[in-house]
Amino acid sequence: MTGGPPDAPAHPTLRSPLPGHTSRAYLRRQENRESNARTYPRRIPIAVRRAWGSWIEDVDGNVLIDFLAGAGALPLGHSHPEVVEAAVRQLRLHAHGLDLPTPAKDEFTETHLGLLPASLRPGMKMHFCGPTGANAVEAALKLCKTATGRSEIVSFSGGFHGSTHGAMAVTSLVEQKEPVPGGMPGVHFFPYSHCYRCPLALDPAHCDTNCAAYLEHALNDTHGGIARPAAFILELVQGEGGVVPATAEFARRVQALARELDVPLVVDEIQTGYGRTGTWFAFEQYGLEPDVILASKAAGGIGLPVAVMFYSRRLDTWAPGAHIGTFRGHQPAFAASVAAINVMRRERVLDNVAEQGAAITGRLRELRDRYPFLGDVRGRGLMIGVEVVDPATGAPDPTRAARIQAGCLRRGLILELGGRNDAVVRMLPPLNVETRVVQTALRIIEATLNSVAAAPPGPLVDPVLEPAAGTAD
Ligand SMILES: Cc1ncc(COP(=O)(O)O)c(C=O)c1O
Repeated sequence: MTGGPPDAPAHPTLRSPLPGHTSRAYLRRQENRESNARTYPRRIPIAVRRAWGSWIEDVDGNVLIDFLAGAGALPLGHSHPEVVEAAVRQLRLHAHGLDLPTPAKDEFTETHLGLLPASLRPGMKMHFCGPTGANAVEAALKLCKTATGRSEIVSFSGGFHGSTHGAMAVTSLVEQKEPVPGGMPGVHFFPYSHCYRCPLALDPAHCDTNCAAYLEHALNDTHGGIARPAAFILELVQGEGGVVPATAEFARRVQALARELDVPLVVDEIQTGYGRTGTWFAFEQYGLEPDVILASKAAGGIGLPVAVMFYSRRLDTWAPGAHIGTFRGHQPAFAASVAAINVMRRERVLDNVAEQGAAITGRLRELRDRYPFLGDVRGRGLMIGVEVVDPATGAPDPTRAARIQAGCLRRGLILELGGRNDAVVRMLPPLNVETRVVQTALRIIEATLNSVAAAPPGPLVDPVLEPAAGTAD
């Protein structure tokens, strides 16, 4: 690639069926050389040549709209020029800094603490974690256990917190845990306020936030079986769990209980942080004052790796070296982060999140009236999901969801699936996505829904995911 990014196209360009000839060769070599645990290429079978803004070009010259945005790590899409420039400048100056103070890190901490509500700022410190979300979760578990001297952790059904041993233990996904014996003990799962699929199997029409009541009762019961926990860990909008926002009442009562029992409340903002839901952090919309805030993904501006934990000073009882790691001082990531936040402020990107988020959810709700296999449309800001259901039974319909994802991909739009049974079609567009890109994506979704509605029922047969015999080379 020479020069800067190409001009933003008006539409996806599809030169070959996906995966194209050259992508196929990459995918085949990848399959041979890389782990069976790889994920995205299985449902998004392309090899990427370059990417800019909301667009990805594969090695066959196909240009697609990217509504996955690095699983939320690209708040301004791919390779925003101003952010790239800041990272490259810093890369030439100083790249790896352990946890020594540097001007780049100092500006990063100042900027990031400045994103917190004024009431929280003076009471918070930051810890630089190994540069993944899961590592921040590990840090939080250790911090809270050390500070409280307790061992039990309360987590919630549907929650996702990462794939390392401790983070997986507080994650609800049973499929990921079962093959790995000997998980971290002391984790207790309580129902989350997912009213569309009530985890207590109650009728939401007659619900008085029973999930919160159950938690309150269990933890106050002298015979409830759970010693006072070291932490509650909570996503305010569950991402991997199927884009499920907590209800305001549930979140309020979880925090109130945490206060009453003197249990630190950890909010996992690894996916929701840095504007994804329309505010810098989702907890602001719930009026919460968490004790620990975990951030990563979008923190690195253009997908550079960084993870931080903001936490209340009163928890800062752990010893020097209590949570270390070699890669906690990625100076270009710090510079990129500050540059991205400056762009977001200057270009009022949070307003765009509200505007485009409303446009997408509004249109999906209209489409739901036309396509009975679209169930709940939900989310906050530009973290959006639509649950695909069997119209006859209302049960999650992973086959149709996979068809929608594959059909959109064939037409040039990258989407993700998530939630129980992978029946939720998820969208995480760049936060600065333009109206015309959103409108093109919505037209692709509509065309795909039309063809999915017309397709005969039955198992998934899709040329993207299941190439016809003889086409694989
Ligand atoms: C809410 C949440 N927490 C933690 C993680 C784990 O982050 P990472 O994949 O960087 O380890 C994720 C990743 O999707 C996430 O969405």
